[in-house]
Amino acid sequence: MARIAIYPGSFDPITNGHMSLLRRALILFDQVIVAVAINSTKKPLFTVQERIELIREATAELPTVVVDSFSGLLVEYAAKKQANVLIRGMRALSDFEYEFQMALMNRRLDRTIESIFMMTDYKWFYISSTIIKEAASLNGDIHGLVPENVCRALKQKFGYAL
Ligand code: PNS
Repeated sequence: MARIAIYPGSFDPITNGHMSLLRRALILFDQVIVAVAINSTKKPLFTVQERIELIREATAELPTVVVDSFSGLLVEYAAKKQANVLIRGMRALSDFEYEFQMALMNRRLDRTIESIFMMTDYKWFYISSTIIKEAASLNGDIHGLVPENVCRALKQKFGYAL
């Protein structure tokens, strides 16, 4: 049976930290579904469709990646996709409490689905979509922190020359 994992998140937008983790997860699983959450309470910069498109372009050379979106409970979406693993990246300590809470709630909701945590590469320890968006909004140099297509999309979104 194929080992399918879900890599869920807001991905607003996808960063090189996400990409690095995804590449490493692909070594462990036959297929990784990058699942963009639709009903996030956060106010996103990119629409779900834009985020999906950016991820599709950035992962075009990774044949075992599937990009999708979901609404409602993550564990229900995972079950529907016949995936029994949720992958989350762990950066600085500040991620820990939120991730712990979410993993325990997800386990309570469905004991057959396991959360696994992959430590981000040290280069991305303090990098997040939020901090990248802030820098980009002020025309800060974000090259090397996000895939090239995302870099262009951010510049366009904030009205800066490419
Ligand atoms: O990138 P993020 O914003 O940290 O991702 C959070 C996400 C989307 C994975 C989380 O909010 C989520 O799973 N949302 C779907 C609803 C759900 O199942 N929540 C967890 C149990 S209540």
